[in-house]
Amino acid sequence: MRQITLPAFGPPDALRLEDAPAPQPAPGEVLVRVAFAGLNPLDYKLRDGSSGRASALALPAVLGREMVGEVIGAGEGVDLDALGMPVGTRVFGVRDLGDMRGTYAEQVAIPAADLAPVPAGVPEAQLPVFAGLALAGSTALTALEDDAELTPGMTLLVHGGSGGVGQMLVPLALRAGASTVWATGRSANAQRLRDLGARPIAYDTEDWESAIDAATDGRGVDRIIDAHYFDTFVPSLDHLAPGGRIVALPSLADVAPARERGIDARVTKMAPSPQRLAALAAAVADGTLDVEVSTVLSPAQIAEGHRMLEDGHTRGKIVLDLRETA
Ligand SMILES: NC(=O)c1ccc[n+]([C@@H]2O[C@H](COP(=O)([O-])OP(=O)(O)OC[C@H]3O[C@@H](n4cnc5c(N)ncnc54)[C@H](OP(=O)(O)O)[C@@H]3O)[C@@H](O)[C@H]2O)c1
Repeated sequence: MRQITLPAFGPPDALRLEDAPAPQPAPGEVLVRVAFAGLNPLDYKLRDGSSGRASALALPAVLGREMVGEVIGAGEGVDLDALGMPVGTRVFGVRDLGDMRGTYAEQVAIPAADLAPVPAGVPEAQLPVFAGLALAGSTALTALEDDAELTPGMTLLVHGGSGGVGQMLVPLALRAGASTVWATGRSANAQRLRDLGARPIAYDTEDWESAIDAATDGRGVDRIIDAHYFDTFVPSLDHLAPGGRIVALPSLADVAPARERGIDARVTKMAPSPQRLAALAAAVADGTLDVEVSTVLSPAQIAEGHRMLEDGHTRGKIVLDLRETA
């Protein structure tokens, strides 16, 4: 099979498409023929070594955290029928936090618990959506349920609403009962944010701080989920309602400035589970989650994909088509 390998930390062009032996599934693991892999900002932070988790990578390494494909085998002790994933089942999933084996490959071995079936009625054309669902979707659910503890009637501001996680946060927050969701993004993405059910704030054409003050009569919002962080986190602290809470997504976010002011601040640590994957799949199937795959790349275009990730303006998800290498 072929895979995309990172021989040493470096720029996007460090990534190499090469032949490799097919992985052997360990006991408890499923062997999956990958159709599409999702790209995430973590991938470039691992590639250039800047992620806090880069030290866990054994180089040469395969990057990528999530994928969709088809079950083609299993390791010892796995009863695929009992799991509801017989050979041929379409599955999607995400590597557990400590599992650094990557997904930019034509085949992956992955624990059964990190996978869920793609619902039966989903057309093949919708498979790229499932490649980009598991990581961003699990992050959105973790941020909303475990960290923000959003309850019905609360107001929410999402920074980075048009990105991979942001586009899932907005509809999932509304489904959880948020009374109003504001989302910052460039003006070019305002209509997309509106379509998702948010009230867009175009940070490139208006001052988002004044906009949120005006929209809340100066009260501020109950919850802020900050997918951007760099120049949004500290100013956001002035726009929380009394008792409000802020949740940052970048793992290396420093939330001390909030805590010094007595503000409840958390950094999300994505916690996927079979239940969460199943809930995300059901939400796509019933139309609650309209995941936007803005870009599908061939493996030969992986460097371009990483440059797009680094640029920080991904709209929805970027997905790698691994069928093309066959
Ligand atoms: N802790 C965890 O478990 C976890 C899990 C997943 C992701 N993350 C992290 O969360 C962050 C977001 O991930 P993602 O996958 O959603 O990233 P993404 O797809 O690259 O989206 C980032 C978004 O940020 C927006 N943005 C850029 N500058 C902005 C600004 N000044 N104000 C507001 N928005 C701005 C961009 O929208 P515009 O083009 O409209 O500006 C872009 O769509 C990343 O740092 C990622 O590493 C953490």
